[in-house]
Amino acid sequence: MQIVILKNAAEVAAYGADIFEKQLNRKAESVLGLATGSTPVALYQNLIEKNRCGDISFKDAVTFNLDEYLGLEGTHPQSYRFFMNEQLFNHVDINKDHTHVPPGNAKNPVEACQEYEAQIAAAGGIDVQLLGIGRNGHIGFNEPSSGLTSRTRVKTLTKETIDDNARFFSADEYQPHLSITMGIGTILDAKKVVLLATGENKAEAVKATVEGPLTASCPASALQLHRDAVIVIDEAAASKLDNIEFYKHIEAENQKLQAHLASL
Ligand code: F6R
Repeated sequence: MQIVILKNAAEVAAYGADIFEKQLNRKAESVLGLATGSTPVALYQNLIEKNRCGDISFKDAVTFNLDEYLGLEGTHPQSYRFFMNEQLFNHVDINKDHTHVPPGNAKNPVEACQEYEAQIAAAGGIDVQLLGIGRNGHIGFNEPSSGLTSRTRVKTLTKETIDDNARFFSADEYQPHLSITMGIGTILDAKKVVLLATGENKAEAVKATVEGPLTASCPASALQLHRDAVIVIDEAAASKLDNIEFYKHIEAENQKLQAHLASL
């Protein structure tokens, strides 16, 4: 894992957005794995700005979101489809027909999960997958105890996740307790994975992900198995790590190497 520790959330978003910029400029028809939640919003704003300035184009890109609430139509303001339209797709030159979010309104959710996997495979697999992380170490809606090789499937949310996300629903509004989520195995199949985490309330989860054992109790720890996983965090989210100075040293050396390679 590459651990990148930056000063604040704005730097984390900019660093993450640069990875997507490089990817899109290297391969216009990139297959991007996207996430919802609070953390990626600033990264999406960076991408919207880069698109507006002509630095990147989504014209030929294809996207697959990690997850969706089961039981919500894509027009529901709390659905992840609605979130993606609002936070990114409506503001960039992407073809909406090339954007995929698991269907929360699927009549047969089990078949819909298999279909989602088939669509990812047919697109050639995900080039870069963006992730946030839950306080309990979840990625997508893969809660603790999720199988480390799991595929897209229906998952029950933990009480902690339901409580964390209750802020988005009004008191009298139905809040789903089920989701469709890419599995951990699906995520690990992405060619590159970029996990963003900011704020002290993510510090325990980051510590377990980076320095804890590989365990289904912290689903994000599965990224230890990935060949190209980048963990981009701010100082607050890094605050419980034991080896902060070491990670900063490695990253500084990495930057020097990249500069050298670019000069060749
Ligand atoms: C969202 C998702 C979740 C979030 C996680 C963190 O698509 O898959 O795993 O990334 O719950 O959410 P925030 O960023 O709101 O703290």
